[in-house]
Amino acid sequence: MVDTRSRNKMLKKQIEPHIFIILGATGNLARRKLFPAIYRLSTKGALQGKSVILAVSRSKEYDDNTFRDQIKNILGTTGLSINDKAFSEWCEKCLHYHSIGNGNLEDYRKLSDRILELETQKELPSNRVFYMALPPDAFPPTIKGLGESELNKESGWTRIVIEKPFGRDLESARQLNNLVHRYFQESQIYRIDHFLGKETVQNLLVFRFANAFFEHLWNREHIESIDIVVAENQGIEGRANYYEQSGALRDMVENHLTQLLTLVAMEPPITFESDAIRNEKIKILRQIVPIRSEDVVFGQYAEGMIDGKKVRGYRGESGVYPESKTETFVGLRLEIANWRWAGVPFFLFTGKRMPQRITQIKVRFQCAPVSIFAPFGPACSVQPNVLIITIQPDEGFDLKIQVKSLGQPMNLTTQSLNFKYSDTFGLPPDAYEALLLDVINGDQTLFVHSDEVESAWSLYTPLLKIDKPIRLYPAGSGYPPETDRLYMR
Ligand code: BG6
Repeated sequence: MVDTRSRNKMLKKQIEPHIFIILGATGNLARRKLFPAIYRLSTKGALQGKSVILAVSRSKEYDDNTFRDQIKNILGTTGLSINDKAFSEWCEKCLHYHSIGNGNLEDYRKLSDRILELETQKELPSNRVFYMALPPDAFPPTIKGLGESELNKESGWTRIVIEKPFGRDLESARQLNNLVHRYFQESQIYRIDHFLGKETVQNLLVFRFANAFFEHLWNREHIESIDIVVAENQGIEGRANYYEQSGALRDMVENHLTQLLTLVAMEPPITFESDAIRNEKIKILRQIVPIRSEDVVFGQYAEGMIDGKKVRGYRGESGVYPESKTETFVGLRLEIANWRWAGVPFFLFTGKRMPQRITQIKVRFQCAPVSIFAPFGPACSVQPNVLIITIQPDEGFDLKIQVKSLGQPMNLTTQSLNFKYSDTFGLPPDAYEALLLDVINGDQTLFVHSDEVESAWSLYTPLLKIDKPIRLYPAGSGYPPETDRLYMR
């Protein structure tokens, strides 16, 4: 029997009228991701004209009209084609600006008044999303400001969206959870990891749990090892302030790579409901064996070449401390102590200024136990089957299999059975579009639970404390060579 929540999920949802408040509306994330996603959703009709946006920032230099002009310019730079008339109508109806000043209690009360005024003017019920598109150190005062001014209260529904990284380590993540729980219920809290909004990440669940034949192979009996790779050819893109405080472990491993890991390794959930899925992910995190210091490699990019152009090293980036030890690469090996995975190594790799941008999961199956082709010589050596799931770009998968080349002598070669998303479906939408709609619809499946975030930090916090040398790698050259060692155990 399908319950109401599941049924609603399957049907096209009716959007409830609401106000969507973006705190940090002049920041990088809002400009690059949120406003383009909201505008695209609006032009596709996905918001059904029921979303009023209130952009909030400290800046006093804007009012509704000047902020709208600013957004028009920004959208123009993202390659969206903008129809002047439709844009003006959308702005008039849906886009407003409010300055929060210094962010003291009085300022939050004024914000509350402005929200009420807009709700009255536009005949909205009190359905509110507060999206914190803010730097991590602004989360606590903002949560407090919302709570103390009673903006956390629900008369319709109230939801709060918190960007990653959620805390800097286990202790700070706990403190942040305690603070947010002081004012909001867990069911109101949406901790965002935008990787979960990617179609191909969601497809991991379909791939595993709608194709029964993989289930028999998806375990220690048949799998040799699994690599999870998130490589980027870009550098830190002018975000030195943030990145110097964060590094690749906090920026990528604790969240994006860990989400991929849990989706690959989890047991089938009992239903496609947020609690069922999140519970299985948490179980995996708790079953990971503490990671040993010798199973981690930290690296940092030095000057090098990307796409034929010379690029500076991390320490030469503007705003970076000249002797910085912040890691821009992490490679690590871990094991999951449960009946499905005991003894199967998982390798996680992420780095900036890698030769190419690619996110992949490589599942290496065990070799045929005996090769009847060995007598034909090295050209007939049997290779393991490998399943490569490409999350981005060129979304899709390849299954590497062995085939006989035509003719004699006997010769084995590796070929690919493959599927490319773009060949069948065109390009996938941006992850933020899916996630914003989920927040508005109250679906927490693709958001991170407080227990999940604390379990992830329990795993990685000890690594933040180990004193390991940073291996320099020239930009564009690939993983630091010390990484090979992780495979040799
Ligand atoms: C962000 C990180 O969360 O994800 C960035 O802060 C990283 O450092 C980005 O570049 C990668 O996301 P995507 O969707 O571009 O692969």
